[in-house]
Order: sequence, then C-alpha cells, then structure tokens
Amino acid sequence: MKLLVLGGTKNLGRHVVEAALRDGHDVTLFNRGRTNPSLFPSVRRLIGDRSAPDALATGEWDGVIDMSGLLVHDVRRGAELLRDRVGHYTYMSSIAVYASKITPGMTEDAPLLPWPDGAPEDHFTMDLYGPSKVRCESLLEAHFGERTSAVRSGFVVGHYNPDFGNWGEALAHGQTLECAARPDQPIQYIDARDLAAFLLRLTVDRIPGPFNAVGPSTTMSTLADAWRSVEPDPGPMDWSPADDRFHLPHDGSNDGTFQLDNTRALTAGLTLRADEEIARDYVVWVQDGNIPPPPPH
Ligand SMILES: NC(=O)c1ccc[n+]([C@@H]2O[C@H](COP(=O)([O-])OP(=O)(O)OC[C@H]3O[C@@H](n4cnc5c(N)ncnc54)[C@H](OP(=O)(O)O)[C@@H]3O)[C@@H](O)[C@H]2O)c1
Repeated sequence: MKLLVLGGTKNLGRHVVEAALRDGHDVTLFNRGRTNPSLFPSVRRLIGDRSAPDALATGEWDGVIDMSGLLVHDVRRGAELLRDRVGHYTYMSSIAVYASKITPGMTEDAPLLPWPDGAPEDHFTMDLYGPSKVRCESLLEAHFGERTSAVRSGFVVGHYNPDFGNWGEALAHGQTLECAARPDQPIQYIDARDLAAFLLRLTVDRIPGPFNAVGPSTTMSTLADAWRSVEPDPGPMDWSPADDRFHLPHDGSNDGTFQLDNTRALTAGLTLRADEEIARDYVVWVQDGNIPPPPPH
C-alpha cells in the first residue's frame, strides 16, 4: 500500500519503516531531515516541520502512521490537511493517557487524563505529555472517525531503543546489571519489532480504536531473571536506587501503569515474542558494536 510515515528515523519509527519496506509497501517519509538524514536513501522523503507542514499539501496515501505527533497544534494541522487524502490514520500514542496510575487491569475504556484549563496546544512540557496524547487521539477520531487507531505503548525495547538500564551492555560484557526500580515493581514492555508489526497491521487492515500495545505484566526481578538467562555466566543484579539509573516510584504510585489489560490488542493481532528472544537479540546487537540510547526514567 502507499504509506506515509510521519517521523520514522529515530527509535521506534525506524522499525516501522524497516518493516514496511520488508513487506513491500510504497513508503513516503515526512520529517525535518535532521535525525539520521542518510537513513533509507531509496525512500521518498518530504521535508518539513509539523508546525507548518506545507510539504504535505498534496499527495494521497492509503495509510499514515504518525510517529512524531507530540503537540496538539501540529497533529490537528496534519489531520486537517490529510483528512480527505489518506485512508487510515494510525497514531502512536502512549500508556500515559490514563487518569489513574495505580489501578491494575485498565482496559482502553478506563478514564483518561483531562486537558488542563488554558494549557498551550503548541508548546511541549513534560506534564502535558499524557493530556496531549489524549487530546490528539480524540481530535483524530473527530476527523477520521472509524478510519483511525491509537496505539498506546510504554517502554519499548529493541535495536535503536534503550533497555531497562545497562542490561544489554552488562550482559554483553559480563558486568553487573543495574536497576533502581524495586524488584517487585510491576512492569510491561514491548519489543520494537512487535510494535512496528502491530502498527502496520492496524493500518493495512484498517482496524479502528485505541489499543494497549504492551506485553504481559511481570515484575522487574522476573524480567531480570529472563534477561540474565540468555548468557551462561551473567553478572549479578544491583538494585540500589540512583537517579541516573532506570527507576520508577518505589511507593507503588505508578504500578497500575504497568498492569494494563492488553486483551484487545491481542485480539486485533498483536503478537509478542518472549523476553529471552528480545534479550538475546538485544545483547547480540550490543556485541555487534551498537550503543544503546540512555534508559528511560
Ligand atoms: N520510545 C518509547 O518508549 C515510546 C513509548 C510510547 C510512545 N512513544 C511515542 O513514539 C513516538 C516517537 O517515537 P520515536 O522517536 O521512536 O519515533 P521516530 O519516528 O523514530 O523518531 C521521531 C521522528 O520525528 C521526526 N520529527 C521530530 N520532530 C519533528 C517535527 N517538528 N516536524 C517533523 N518531523 C519531526 C524526526 O525527524 P527529524 O528530527 O529529522 O524531523 C524523527 O524522524 C512519539 O509519538 C512518542 O510519544 C514512544
């Protein structure tokens, strides 16, 4: 299909473009040409900023996958421009949309964050991340109706993306694995390749709605055991708290965020590879000389 990818050259988006090309889609990229500009040299590229996307004024696509939609102003502008010229619009959203951070088992129908009175739509601050994703999802639904889906993910691990600290590096070089989250902290994540495949599936098959695109909920210590199992003589775990390490609140105030219900996504075709496969491939990628980006906090 003719596919427009907004973004596509940094972390998750690279996987989407790689998978789309592998599947034989006719891909066009739209970005500013700043991030990894030499990637995908054979792919058509429209250069522009989302705040004034003149380069998107003409053209038709069967589907768009929006990996760079952070500001409400920019997503609204793109939606207005593209509404009558694209088939399905798949939006990369986030698990940060939910109003509760402590309720286990939230489905896509759980209450979402409100938009703060008077907040700017054209200026990004971290506290507006979740509300902006909610507002973008809802404005896209208003513009595209059944022709839009929203993919809510949290931690994404895989090539070009971080892991949960220094795990890939430590396993590749026999060092201590660090993590400042508590060992019984609930955690959910997804492999970037599984996420890319799901984004494509929703777009190609035009499956509407929001989806929790996350793996099964586990704990940090179970996850660490799975990752450590891929090396014959892995280094030990160090769970001591330190701000520069991967950490999550120790008081449980974010536990619900990592106990989401992913049934709807699985039913729509999300497939998830095992922790051991994710870890093994990641460690090999590091052993090949690649440097993981810093871990998320
Ligand atoms: N990483 C995670 O764990 C995670 C989790 C949940 C959700 N998300 C969501 O995933 C999306 C980002 O993923 P990613 O960074 O990996 O995507 P990506 O598509 O790999 O990288 C971001 C792309 O956006 C382009 N871009 C940035 N600002 C732009 C602008 N003002 N105008 C036009 N293009 C612009 C960048 O290229 P140029 O710099 O060349 O313009 C780059 O190609 C975001 O929507 C984020 O909220 C991420």
